[in-house]
Amino acid sequence: MSVIRTQVGIIGGGPSGLLLSQLLHRRGIDTVVLEKHSRDYVLGRIRAGVLEHGFANLMREAGCGDRMDAEGEIHDGVYIAHQGRMDRVDLARHTGGNSVLVYGQTEVTRDLYQARADMDGVVIHNARDVALFDLKSAAPYLTYAKDGATHRVDCDYIVGADGFHGASRKAIPSDVLREYEKVYPFGWLGVLSETKPVSPELIYARHERGFALCSMRSQLLSRYYIQVPITDTAAQWSDDAFWAELKSRLPQDVAETLQTGPSIEKSIAPLRSFVAEPMRYGQLFLAGDAAHIVPPTGAKGLNSAASDIHYLYHGLVDHYLNDDDAGLDAYSEKALARVWKAQRFSWWMTNLLHRFPDSEDVDQQLQRTDLDYLFSSDAALASMAENYVGLPY
Ligand code: FAD
Ligand code: PHB
Repeated sequence: MSVIRTQVGIIGGGPSGLLLSQLLHRRGIDTVVLEKHSRDYVLGRIRAGVLEHGFANLMREAGCGDRMDAEGEIHDGVYIAHQGRMDRVDLARHTGGNSVLVYGQTEVTRDLYQARADMDGVVIHNARDVALFDLKSAAPYLTYAKDGATHRVDCDYIVGADGFHGASRKAIPSDVLREYEKVYPFGWLGVLSETKPVSPELIYARHERGFALCSMRSQLLSRYYIQVPITDTAAQWSDDAFWAELKSRLPQDVAETLQTGPSIEKSIAPLRSFVAEPMRYGQLFLAGDAAHIVPPTGAKGLNSAASDIHYLYHGLVDHYLNDDDAGLDAYSEKALARVWKAQRFSWWMTNLLHRFPDSEDVDQQLQRTDLDYLFSSDAALASMAENYVGLPY
């Protein structure tokens, strides 16, 4: 068995794991990233599109901000379409000039892979059957299988950044781990198309037929979603059926200007609220989707992963460079406090905008009233805006 030694062993080469690895390496802290899949597979997943400024700042601190700053689009407002009209949430006005950045997770991940390669960072792809050992000792280790052999990584700390289905959370004993979970009775069918976005800013639509979202990756690449029953499959939806359903959920003048074209990606994402507590067990720290999932309505998944990485990065730097463990000791509590606020906001936006299969007239009237209140109260708009652009770390 080959054995390598590192300071921080990171499981998962998604945005959380790569960003942490890159930030630590720049402070002289050694990491090894174990990723189950190939780089192309990771880059093929079309996921987040909206970044908070806290996330963008971390990318800059990691030395990965140049392309993001050149190609990302600053958005200082979003629309909510309801009852046939469009109302705008002026993010900048209600947050003292804050905004969000539209730059796809695929591009974020591509930039992080490039930066890791430029620094000769160790990212091991196709690392299968990752297992975690001796988490309560000062010398935890990982094993993985690759090319027909088993390999071992000895570490000081292990970071589980391996997403919702990864191995790290499962390594925490069930009598220690508390899991909170809510699965929604619908999913989002997403389509990526090489068409001009229907609107310069995102449109979140509440409609009797169900939720819809008009988003984008650039001025040439659109990303649209519609709420569908969780039992549907992407293959069941032709492009024509998708465009027709999307148009039916948008105000007529918007639908009339929607440019359609062949889909270049089409997939269904389930909606789930999930939190695992605590986010530390011995020398193991969980980060990102490994510890929590939000329904995508508030655009908070990747952004919550970034705040975990912020706390963990500073905790590890303080441990290695300043001989101070206070940050690591407070990690779980600090990260969870922010995660729960992102959960609350995502749950609120999901409830506000989706059609629930068992909803009664009263539920729908309450949704309409919630929207009427939102657009009649500066206090309500300020609350929505400060959450959407991201609460402070
Ligand atoms: P992941 O991206 O899941 O990465 C984990 C990595 O670990 C993967 O590469 C995986 O292959 C690897 N892995 C898994 N198991 C193992 C194992 N056993 N061993 C080794 N490696 C393993 N968030 C936002 O903030 N804004 C948005 O606009 C937004 N939109 C979204 C839209 C959709 C349709 C979806 C599905 C999600 C969206 N999200 C959004 C959420 C966001 O994509 C996730 O929160 C983000 O990917 C989390 O990053 P991560 O690195 O923690 O986990
Ligand atoms: C996206 O562009 O994929 C996106 C944007 C906003 C969301 C969710 C997803 O709330």
